Amino acid sequence: MKTAIVFASLTGNTEAMAEVLADELNGKAETDIFDVTSQSFDNPDAYDAIAFGSPAMGEEVLEEDSFEPMFSAIESSLKGKKVVLFGSYGWGDGQWMRDWEERCTADGAIVMGTVIAMGAPDDEAVSQLKDLAAEMLK
Ligand SMILES: Cc1cc2nc3c(=O)[nH]c(=O)nc-3n(C[C@H](O)[C@H](O)[C@H](O)COP(=O)(O)O)c2cc1C
Repeated sequence: MKTAIVFASLTGNTEAMAEVLADELNGKAETDIFDVTSQSFDNPDAYDAIAFGSPAMGEEVLEEDSFEPMFSAIESSLKGKKVVLFGSYGWGDGQWMRDWEERCTADGAIVMGTVIAMGAPDDEAVSQLKDLAAEMLK
C-alpha cells in the first residue's frame, strides 16, 4: 500500500490538515508527502490512494500558483484512483470543495470523502481526517 499527500498551504491551515493525515498513515502505509509550493508532483500512478489538499483561493478556486497547475496537469491520470480531498477556507461556504469534488468525479476518480475546515482544523475536522485516513488504508 502506497499513499501520497499532495497539498499547498499559504498560511499553514491546510498544512495542519495534511499533518493529521500523515500522522494517521504513519507506520501503516508507505506515504510520500508533497508540498507543491516547493515540490513537484507528477506521478499519481505510483500510488494506491492520494489525499489532495488545497485552500479556497481566488473566488472559490484551488490555490492558483502551485496547486491548480499541478492538478490540471495530472487529473487525466486519476481515472479509477482513490482520492481524498481536503482544505481550509475562510469566508465562503465551501463552494470550492463542492466544485472540486465534482471535477474529480468527472475525471473518473473515486472520491472517498472530503474534509473542509474554516481556518485551522478544529476537533471535528481532525476526526473526519482520521476517518478518511483509515479509508485510504482499506
Ligand atoms: C487571496 C485569497 C483568496 C481567498 N479566497 C477565498 C475564497 O474564495 N473562499 C473562502 O472561503 N476563503 C478564501 N480565502 C481564505 C483562505 O481559504 C483561508 O485563509 C484558509 O484558511 C487558508 O488556508 P492555508 O492556511 O492552508 O493557506 C482566501 C484567502 C486569500 C489569501
